[in-house]
Amino acid sequence: MLNELVFCSAEITLMREDDIPFVLDIERQSNPHPWSESSFREAFASGYLCLVAREAQCIVGFAIVQVLVDDAELLLIAVNPSSRRSGCASMLLAEAVQRLSLIDRSPLHLEVRRSNAAAIAFYEARKFALTGVRKNYYPSGVAGQSREDALLMSLALRS
Ligand SMILES: CC(C)(COP(=O)(O)OP(=O)(O)OC[C@H]1O[C@@H](n2cnc3c(N)ncnc32)[C@H](O)[C@@H]1OP(=O)(O)O)[C@@H](O)C(=O)NCCC(=O)NCCS
Repeated sequence: MLNELVFCSAEITLMREDDIPFVLDIERQSNPHPWSESSFREAFASGYLCLVAREAQCIVGFAIVQVLVDDAELLLIAVNPSSRRSGCASMLLAEAVQRLSLIDRSPLHLEVRRSNAAAIAFYEARKFALTGVRKNYYPSGVAGQSREDALLMSLALRS
């Protein structure tokens, strides 16, 4: 996965606190129930692994990973709509995987809405395996519709 050819020219770095407004802007364009600014600030202050993809001084994507005692959870990953399908999320994930492998955390877990076909395709392409389903876990992303299942997926990391 780490050696695949990608076309995103972004640099992946640790998030800085002053990146949060730009990250929040991408989150609001990407998530039907976006994290609040205070959630980002708490994640940052709590030492979560917070990565950004920076292209020509602009933030084009980000990922937030909660590092646990043995394993880790990918809490958020999103790319600016105009920068999608160019490999940015793949680069963010590869950086997270590399950092988690170095500190021997595995597997990397996540939850994804059943209706989020793009994200599920992304995770499947990145070799995440389906490990379970949480019924009616999410509030609906569409007004007036019922709740939605979460798919649980995991990626085993090699150190
Ligand atoms: C999911 C998301 C992060 C993917 O970001 P991205 O930068 O476009 O992903 P990449 O370019 O690295 O995609 C790599 C591969 O994932 C798969 N993929 C990504 N988006 C896809 C889509 N819309 N449809 C089908 N496959 C897709 C493809 O296999 C793709 O490879 P290809 O472009 O060569 O076909 C992005 O669509 C996004 O920000 N979505 C909104 C936020 C979100 O849903 N996050 C996940 C929450 S669990």
